[in-house]
Amino acid sequence: MTLPTAIQMCPFSDYLEQELAKRFTLIRWDEMDEAARQALLAQRDDRIGAVVTNGHVGCPDDLMTALPGLRIIAIHGVGFDKVNLPLAKERGVGVSTTPNVLNEDVADLAIGLVISLLREVAPADAYVRGGRWEQGDYPLGRKVTGRRFGIVGLGRIGMEIGHRLAAFGPVAYTGNTPKDVPYRFVPDALTLARESDVLILACPSNAQTFHLVDDAILDALGPQGYIVNIARGAVIDEAALIGAIDQRRIAGAALDVFEHEPHVPEALRASPHVLLTPHIASGTVETRRDMADMVLQNLDAVLAGDPPTHALV
Ligand code: 8YV
Repeated sequence: MTLPTAIQMCPFSDYLEQELAKRFTLIRWDEMDEAARQALLAQRDDRIGAVVTNGHVGCPDDLMTALPGLRIIAIHGVGFDKVNLPLAKERGVGVSTTPNVLNEDVADLAIGLVISLLREVAPADAYVRGGRWEQGDYPLGRKVTGRRFGIVGLGRIGMEIGHRLAAFGPVAYTGNTPKDVPYRFVPDALTLARESDVLILACPSNAQTFHLVDDAILDALGPQGYIVNIARGAVIDEAALIGAIDQRRIAGAALDVFEHEPHVPEALRASPHVLLTPHIASGTVETRRDMADMVLQNLDAVLAGDPPTHALV
């Protein structure tokens, strides 16, 4: 039997790669040079039925339009900002994600970042490892409990973050509409920043949220304020953030996502007021297995002639 062909856009876990290899002849887009990619686009190969990708790589428009037989773009993740949904719809290509299974992990990491940032866990660790404790005690951090927390985007992930943060202090949020939750709704991000000590970004990345965090929001948060981003890098104007950190117009930032990841600007890497993680919010053995299974479910549905089980379009 000839296996259908799929394009794999990025590396996945051994488990997912093995399962994909049982179902498809795989073409590795991420291992191709520019010339090979152009040649693939020019072929207009109608045997390629699936693109398997992650949230931050997505699928470029020219690839989507070069594949006349494409039936599914299966995203290993929930972010779909790198896939053109109207174009997919127009071309009859299903786009699927892996919703819900990662909510807890992403929320757990957000809380971990809040605590680590205010209590300076990473620099304190470096202090001990660097043998500096013997010269004196580490400086004091900032108290977490009792802070005012503001969540931008109370979707499935934002909601989990809210549940956890409520144990620490008052929670407010902003988003398109108020929800039936015990947290205070604030109509816009600027007001939320003004009324928060810690602003947590959990919104999707789209035209509405592009560079939402700009100078005005950073100044509204103020010199005692912190920002935590587990959403997408593009939600923050990174240059504005660097300026605000350097000039101490905000107290600090914890970032799991970046505008041009895996590139992280030197100014962020060098700052003692910034905590950096390499987009690991959903990165646990357990959750990545669940996400992989959901990718496979979506692909299997399409292989069986059905729509993807977790379809966006
Ligand atoms: C993943 C993510 O890191 O769900 C998303 O949108 O950004 C993350 O869960 C990524 O998609 C890994 O495949």
